Amino acid sequence: MLIVAGSASSKLAERVAKQLKCKLTKPELKLFPDGELYARIPADVKGEDVAIIQSTCYPPNRNYMELFLLLDAARDLGAEEVTAIVPYFAYARQDKRFKEGEAVSLQTVSKLIESVGTDKIYTIDMHAHRIGDIQEIFKVPAINLTAAPLLAKYLADNYRLKDPVIIGPDEEAEGWAKSAGKALDADWDYMVKKRLGPEEVEIKPRKLEVEGRDAMVIDDIISTGGTMVEAIKILKKHGARKIYAACTHAILAGDALGKVRKAGAEDIFATDTIEQKISKVSVAPIIVDAIR
Ligand code: R5P
Repeated sequence: MLIVAGSASSKLAERVAKQLKCKLTKPELKLFPDGELYARIPADVKGEDVAIIQSTCYPPNRNYMELFLLLDAARDLGAEEVTAIVPYFAYARQDKRFKEGEAVSLQTVSKLIESVGTDKIYTIDMHAHRIGDIQEIFKVPAINLTAAPLLAKYLADNYRLKDPVIIGPDEEAEGWAKSAGKALDADWDYMVKKRLGPEEVEIKPRKLEVEGRDAMVIDDIISTGGTMVEAIKILKKHGARKIYAACTHAILAGDALGKVRKAGAEDIFATDTIEQKISKVSVAPIIVDAIR
């Protein structure tokens, strides 16, 4: 197998190639003065199983274009099998038409990935809550992996926890809280969230007792930090001892990190689906397991 390291996932691609003990290549990329992108795979892909790893984090349009060019080039140059590994899958939040006339962005990017000849797709904790299985949006095999157990393991390996409890900050985070809770053999629950504006949310707890216990709030994304801050405030109000903030994709818009720290998180950690300074957990092992 040959791993092609997209520019948004170069470190993760290196980790995956190292664990798989397979070849790795970095594409040659140039931006023309008019903003067009040039991409070249500087390796012989003919007859190879090629996996392109490219997150479509900021800037998403540029990163998607790079992904399309690399997938198409691999197919066109005679790769045996072409796999797209998109650790952070942008545009997944618009997974339906909320208002008449809207483009369903998730559907659009999915069609584009497939149309360049991709044989298989992997992503991690895709934010598409209204879709039960991502196979519904792709015709080729598509698998949505989860990093929640890895985040739970990081917590357990690094802290001496008192009666831990895992909390999802909203209904959509139930699955991640459950999966992390199971991995830790700990209680888990989720809260109820109402979004009041782009940076403002209102969160209410459900039934779980957190007094005197260590809590990890787990979400797929920390973007502005608003959701995490509100969840931490509520846990503090209900007497949680230490609170840890974990997410798969650290978008970290503006001063999100500062806000979550100020709210009182003992530690904030994320995976390397987006390469950030809080990317303390690598998703390489789950990608390697899935590919194998
Ligand atoms: C929303 O449903 C997501 O799962 C996250 O809770 C959300 O994207 C976090 O955004 P923010 O950090 O801006 O509150």
